[in-house]
Amino acid sequence: MSKAKFITLEGIDGAGKSTQLSCIEACLKARGIAFLLTREPGGTQLGEKLRSILLHEHMHPETEALLMFAARAEHLSGVIMPALNEGTWVVSDRFTDASFAYQGGGRGLDYARLAALEQWLHEGFQPDLTLLFDVPVEVARERLKKNAALDRFEHEEEAFFNRVRDAYLDRAKRFPQRFRVIDSSLPLDSIKKKLEEIISTICL
Ligand SMILES: Nc1ncnc2c1ncn2[C@@H]1O[C@H](COP(=O)(O)OP(=O)(O)O)[C@@H](O)[C@H]1O
Ligand SMILES: [Mg+2]
Repeated sequence: MSKAKFITLEGIDGAGKSTQLSCIEACLKARGIAFLLTREPGGTQLGEKLRSILLHEHMHPETEALLMFAARAEHLSGVIMPALNEGTWVVSDRFTDASFAYQGGGRGLDYARLAALEQWLHEGFQPDLTLLFDVPVEVARERLKKNAALDRFEHEEEAFFNRVRDAYLDRAKRFPQRFRVIDSSLPLDSIKKKLEEIISTICL
């Protein structure tokens, strides 16, 4: 049996990550792969409490970065690593690339500090596949307008999301082996086809 894989979904708010989760779920189910779906910040009891603080309370950018990594420590030790070790694939709606994009690109924190936290928590461990749902900020904002209540991040200005988007695209260029960039402005059907192709290559 091949090793259980760790797949992460990334992209700005409104890019379509949550929407595509069901497609990924169907792809993996069709192949008889045991997997679990999870998300960041969150994924554990304590992590979900931290998520609600992160999404709703005002805080200093450094506090934000440290809480994201604190929630991630719980997620890695309590959910991600145990699952992978027992052969269950893990699909996470966001992971450490989001810290580089949001707290680094968006808030302007020093990338070296974030890299130190990354190394502390998961030195040498990276997703096998990172799906970056890329969409122009204006398109994502239009989509978010349909949501009733926006969180602290979703309320950010356009320039913030442009920095986040650029930071994500930079990460994709830096780590081309694990990143696949998906044009998320396309209709849902085309994205689904693309995802099926990508997932089938990783399942080999
Ligand atoms: N490819 C797409 N075309 C049109 N609308 C989309 C597409 N992908 C997502 N949406 C819509 O955009 C909104 C935000 O999508 P969502 O999956 O919640 O984004 P994210 O989880 O990345 O923040 C939802 O209302 C969703 O139905
Ligand atoms: Mg979502």
